[in-house]
Amino acid sequence: MQELWNEKFSRDGFLYGTEVNSFIKENEDIFKKDFKVLCLGEGEGRNAIFLAKKGLHVEALDASDIGLKKLQKRSLEENVAITIRHTLLENWQPHGKYDVILSTYTHVDQNEQTDMFVKVLDGLKSGGFFIAEFFSIDQLHFESGGPKDIELLYDLGNLYQLFFNLPCTIYKLSQEIIELKEGKGHNGEASVIRIILKRN
Ligand SMILES: C[S@@+](CC[C@H](N)C(=O)[O-])C[C@H]1O[C@@H](n2cnc3c(N)ncnc32)[C@H](O)[C@@H]1O
Repeated sequence: MQELWNEKFSRDGFLYGTEVNSFIKENEDIFKKDFKVLCLGEGEGRNAIFLAKKGLHVEALDASDIGLKKLQKRSLEENVAITIRHTLLENWQPHGKYDVILSTYTHVDQNEQTDMFVKVLDGLKSGGFFIAEFFSIDQLHFESGGPKDIELLYDLGNLYQLFFNLPCTIYKLSQEIIELKEGKGHNGEASVIRIILKRN
């Protein structure tokens, strides 16, 4: 997995562009100045840079050292500070640290998705938010990007069941057809799941 992403991020430019993800941008009110935010599976850093510029304390976690190096280089050019955490999600142990955790298009195996969401909620302060956008299982019918392996996609019904059993309030959980314009990597009509949870 790390090799796959290192190879993708070794190419020139930014695979998903340099603009913040549009769902994160639409919900930027969640991200208050001085909040401590974690960007999970942040890759080349488009969300992290945007949030650091807004005055948040940003940490970016990813398995790809090449992606994180590009993020770091860009953060120096943009004159913002971002803490880099080069690790697998599976090795990350949070505990009530963050005001917000975000994730865009972190393709985690369905067997490991429950663990990821449990950890995310554990990583949030009480009242903290998780906001995310992932490809749904219906993305298999679209050609706009993302894995062609159903095991790496997200199922709306499973997520409902899971979140009802976790210590959170669901603010948003929807499957939507959207138009992606995110660098060379995500382009065209796509089926995504958009999530906003508040930690109880
Ligand atoms: C499709 S890219 C998305 C990058 C970024 N979130 C964005 O939207 O621009 C998926 C990212 O998730 C990271 N990733 C996937 N599985 C991971 C894992 N188990 N632990 C840490 N990072 C992971 C990859 O290294 C890659 O950077």
